[in-house]
Amino acid sequence: MLRKLLAHRPFRRLLPRTALAAAALTGFASALVVAAPAQAAVVCSVTYSVNDWGSGFTASVGITNTGDTANGWTLGFRFAGNQTITNGWNANWSQSGQAVTATNLDWNRTLGSASIGFNANYSGVNNAPTAFTVNGVACNGGPGGGNNAPTVSLTPPPSSTYQAPATIPLAASAADSDGTVSAVEFRSNGTLLATDTSAPYSYSWTNVPAGGYSLTAVAVDDDGARTTSTAVSVTVQGVGGPGRVDNPYLGAKVYVNPEWSAKAAAEPNGSKIANQPTGVWLDRIAAIQGTDRGFGLAEHLDAAIAQNAQLVQLVIYNLPGRDCAALASNGELGPTELPRYKSEYIDPIAAILARPAYANLRIVTVIEIDSLPNLITNVSGRPTMTPECDVMKANGNYVNGVGYALAKLGAVPNVYNYIDAGHHGWIGWDDNFAPTANLMYTAANASGSTAANVHGFIANTANYGVLKEQYYTINDSVGGASVRTSKWIDWNRYVDELTFAQAFRQQLVTSGFNSNIGMLIDTGRNGWGGAQRPTGPGPQTNVDTYVNGGRFDRRIHLGNWCNQSNAGIGERPTAAPAAGIDAYVWIKPPGESDGSSEAIPNDEGKGFDRMCDPTYTGNPRNGNNMSGALGGAPLSGHWFSAQFRQLLANAYPPLP
Ligand code: BGC
Repeated sequence: MLRKLLAHRPFRRLLPRTALAAAALTGFASALVVAAPAQAAVVCSVTYSVNDWGSGFTASVGITNTGDTANGWTLGFRFAGNQTITNGWNANWSQSGQAVTATNLDWNRTLGSASIGFNANYSGVNNAPTAFTVNGVACNGGPGGGNNAPTVSLTPPPSSTYQAPATIPLAASAADSDGTVSAVEFRSNGTLLATDTSAPYSYSWTNVPAGGYSLTAVAVDDDGARTTSTAVSVTVQGVGGPGRVDNPYLGAKVYVNPEWSAKAAAEPNGSKIANQPTGVWLDRIAAIQGTDRGFGLAEHLDAAIAQNAQLVQLVIYNLPGRDCAALASNGELGPTELPRYKSEYIDPIAAILARPAYANLRIVTVIEIDSLPNLITNVSGRPTMTPECDVMKANGNYVNGVGYALAKLGAVPNVYNYIDAGHHGWIGWDDNFAPTANLMYTAANASGSTAANVHGFIANTANYGVLKEQYYTINDSVGGASVRTSKWIDWNRYVDELTFAQAFRQQLVTSGFNSNIGMLIDTGRNGWGGAQRPTGPGPQTNVDTYVNGGRFDRRIHLGNWCNQSNAGIGERPTAAPAAGIDAYVWIKPPGESDGSSEAIPNDEGKGFDRMCDPTYTGNPRNGNNMSGALGGAPLSGHWFSAQFRQLLANAYPPLP
């Protein structure tokens, strides 16, 4: 027979939960023993019961003498811990260290029986004293008058590893050589789970969340003596435990960020997409705790649990010297501040993610947008060389920061790390493709990480690359000329994000990553619907007319990236949409700006990048074309209502 302690408190008064967990037991002595023959010898038994509230208790002590009448008596016992008597009644109480004596008052000097008591404080565990004497004579039996503590052993559960939510069968055997076992408690990490008062002692622990547990059984005998068994360790894996699932998105309800959702819903027609999951960007240290601008990380995770969501998408975005090739998303940490990145940013995030309360969430972490590719494409030797990227390449802080993030976050068994892989309009050229994959492998093995910490990669985060061109492929030619010679494609190997992501996955495996890595594609803003969407192939006058007439991607140049005019919402988030693709996701929350269209003073470290200025005529990175940016844009990450409305209007697939 067993009882869950919270439901039933079988052998003691109702007490607050905390008191119950820490409390000593009420022991009722039963065995009477005849003390060695002596003149005027008492034969005594003592009961000792407590009402315990966790840091203090009231003890009631009953003394019964069935031997020679004692005319004057002294009770002696020792506390097991740091109990300190504050006051007592019906006796003169004194304490020296753990030793306690209580001497009769005048009116109760003749011992038949006496009821006395005291109040005491304690910390830690409040075990009952196990040996009492009256006038030097041991009470309650046992060798030397003491009580033998019970013996107990916890039967190891059938397995040491379970899958959350787990049911773990617990069983124990217990015995008492000089009395009876009154109860066996089952405890996890010291906390009481249940009490069973009769053999066979057992308890079925159900709904156990992911985590590590040290299990013990505590036997309590009829004198209140307690014995704790050897501990048995059990691990309960979350859905993403060491047995992480291959595709975390499969079958998982994804967290809808209520903050983004509210902004979306407040826009005309916004409710059509306001219930979609979007990324939660931890874009500065203050975002971990939350700021006046928003929820902290734990609040998001709590909200996810409240939504019954199973998957949360976080963006890890705060590298030292962030956004080295641009200005709009420069961050708070200077190029050399790797130690702060580790201790003030990654460590606190990892600590929150590791909380047992979140062990059942699949936590997707998108690691450091735009960082590693910049070290390939925007450094010395390239026409787009940017001194800031040379600095980050030379000091190693991108590579080591990414490695550290992967190692720390990857140590949390339900975290799924996806490294940002740029997009086809960046990494799709031969010069960039394999070197970027190789650098990612280097980073995945930096700072104590290994490639096993990488679950996959994400393409097109916060970019506008179309998912799938339909009216031409990279293998097409016009009049004998490959479309790769067109101005738009400009020798790239890929025409869209789907073909790029699938091919880059293969390259990453070639570069050393596990063959089961999966890709994500950010489809939040790559829909390119609306009136300008081509309805057939372009005219085959030449490669340019063919490509420009047929392409869905309406950007002025493939290198344009800031608040692009005429973009639309893309594919809705979908799990396992294509081979090698774990999901289409919305990591950049649609409606949040890529950067301000003019300089705006701010305390977020963000600069003004002219690629966000609609009047800018460009630079070598975008072939000296117009920026194509929408005007009136706020700082990156801030709500840009006009853009959101345009994204809705140009959604493809169209919104219902
Ligand atoms: C900004 C971040 C923002 C994110 C999502 C980035 O461009 O730099 O501050 O959280 O976009 O909108």
